[in-house]
Amino acid sequence: MKLRKLLFTMLASSMLMLTACGASDSSGTSSKTDTSKTDTSSVLSNESDPQNSSADSPSSDAGSEKQDSSIADSSQSAESKPQNKDTIVVYFSASGITKGVAHKIAEITSADIFEIVPEQKYTDADLDWNDNKSRSTIEMNDPDCRPKISGDIPDLSAYKKVFIGYPIWWGEAPRIMSTFVESVSLDGKTVIPFCTSGSSPIASSAKHLQTQCKSGNWLDGSRLEGSISKEELSEWIDAQK
Ligand SMILES: Cc1cc2nc3c(=O)[nH]c(=O)nc-3n(C[C@H](O)[C@H](O)[C@H](O)COP(=O)(O)O)c2cc1C
Repeated sequence: MKLRKLLFTMLASSMLMLTACGASDSSGTSSKTDTSKTDTSSVLSNESDPQNSSADSPSSDAGSEKQDSSIADSSQSAESKPQNKDTIVVYFSASGITKGVAHKIAEITSADIFEIVPEQKYTDADLDWNDNKSRSTIEMNDPDCRPKISGDIPDLSAYKKVFIGYPIWWGEAPRIMSTFVESVSLDGKTVIPFCTSGSSPIASSAKHLQTQCKSGNWLDGSRLEGSISKEELSEWIDAQK
């Protein structure tokens, strides 16, 4: 963790400098995403209100997203395509970047979408990676930590394909992702992990989730740019076999 921390602190400093200068992040995570216009996916009940979404938030603004467990349903589009009930996108996002990618995946695949909302929301201070005593640092230092999820986890039995998205925290999936994968059976399902990050790859984070989950046919998954275009994302989705 120490080497990771050093590397990440260097990375974080450069990310902050970029933001302070108003520069566009080369990772693309600072760019705006609009997920609401043609989204035909069904939003399950834990999903944050898209009106209050900070999918627009810059990556260095981790913590500005106030995770909101209010009910929202974006399946009412007049142009609705038939729902792809075989597929669901499940994600956690602290500051909106992963949320933006998750919504694009759900839109492209016409899948349902479910946001993992923490029972205790993460504040900006909780997400301060420079603070050894911040909640996120303490959680990531404890492999057994399992933050509680707000509300009910949806019944996944009808789905054949499950996209699972999260930000990288200290090279790993946030502990709340472990809470999730240990709460569900993914037996017989294809599981496609994806992450967003400042620059860290998905690496072994998904493998660790797979071990904790003990079920499902997990693909390797990928790190995706927050600014990924729908065309690029469609190609990535098509390659997930
Ligand atoms: C506590 C914490 C730890 C992080 N650790 C890493 C890391 O190890 N490597 C990295 O590239 N980015 C790291 N990041 C940056 C996030 O992965 C990145 O900003 C991500 O896109 C945020 O996604 P979100 O907006 O969906 O929460 C960290 C962010 C936080 C808040």
